[in-house]
Amino acid sequence: MVRDMLKIVCVCGARPNFMKIAPIMDALGRADGVRTLLVHTGQHYDERMSRLFFGQLNIPEPDVNLEVGSCSHAVQTGQVMERFEPVCLKEKPDWVLVVGDVNSTLACALVASKLGIRIAHVEAGLRSFDRTMPEEINRVLTDAISDALFVTEPSGVDNLKREGVADEKVHLVGNVMIDTLLRSRSRAEESTILETLGIQPRRYAVLTLHRPSNVDNVEVFSSILGALEKICQEMPVVFPMHPRSRKNLAALGLESRAEGIARLRMVEPLGYLDFLKLTANAAVVLTDSGGIQEETTILGVPCLTLRENTERPITVSQGTNRLIGSDGEAILAAFREVCEHPPDLSRRPELWDGNAAQRIVDVLVRTCPN
Ligand code: UD1
Repeated sequence: MVRDMLKIVCVCGARPNFMKIAPIMDALGRADGVRTLLVHTGQHYDERMSRLFFGQLNIPEPDVNLEVGSCSHAVQTGQVMERFEPVCLKEKPDWVLVVGDVNSTLACALVASKLGIRIAHVEAGLRSFDRTMPEEINRVLTDAISDALFVTEPSGVDNLKREGVADEKVHLVGNVMIDTLLRSRSRAEESTILETLGIQPRRYAVLTLHRPSNVDNVEVFSSILGALEKICQEMPVVFPMHPRSRKNLAALGLESRAEGIARLRMVEPLGYLDFLKLTANAAVVLTDSGGIQEETTILGVPCLTLRENTERPITVSQGTNRLIGSDGEAILAAFREVCEHPPDLSRRPELWDGNAAQRIVDVLVRTCPN
């Protein structure tokens, strides 16, 4: 039987997935002979962690929401699997496309794999080589069962080759998160977030923190606050707080210490356009996020990563990123160093040019099974 339409089920679940799925949905929408369904697992569900991004990034309303919400890793992964399986059985897609490295990514890939449905993994091959990170487990396992692996940087190609993935499955296509950034820059310019916060371009820092290794441990979180006490004497620090970090600050008894830091601006999580405007105009960004290491590389803003390792080494070799770890003294020293000697801001990784999603869709259509 010759099928006239190629059917693709795209999956998103948590905040960093939304800026990756947006340009892919857009490119799929423009492709001939392709029918696309969007499944939201509901891993993130707060207005500011989810809905806001759909509106700002023009992502179509999901066809299905699995509404799993927050729970332990095993329960969350299991619930996504249980609820995604009937969707696959009903829709019988040619491809399930997953992005990134969150629990929803692995859960949906596993379901597709057991049903014999081909899996496309966008942002494949990245490795921190730190198996204590839940994302690293999700990355390694998703890649092992994927049929088309779309890679953002050459290190990913090397990692997959070393793990024995066949060359013909691996496609170096660039970075869909950067597609979204480049097409959103002019709209982000219109954001009034700097006026709202009363801050001046290049005279403030931005901080984001949410990794369990930084915010689940009282010593580590305290050490970071120690650095912030000093940094805030030099410039204001805007800290849009992930719900996990806000909850832990209270649970670890650190709330009043943080609130006592003058010029530390703890705000709610921001929408995409406000956050882009904020980071694009910052003097320096301090973060433990993966995606922000990439965004600051393209924005030409110095980035200090509060981790010991990165799965995105190109942001260090060709971008503005430096790995600092989470020790307060080291953070303060790196902050002072980067203010005095800003990194080379002129480099840009190859293929991070705004066309990654189109390259992905071209491969999917070309390798159509029928
Ligand atoms: C998840 C991803 C991480 C990604 C991050 C971006 C995994 C293993 N982790 O981490 O890779 O960088 O998303 O944010 O998939 N919560 C809310 N509202 C929400 C979502 C979460 O209040 O909309 C709170 C809940 O208390 C929840 C906690 O945040 O227990 C953690 O959420 P979860 O999705 O489990 O992990 P993240 O830390 O967000």
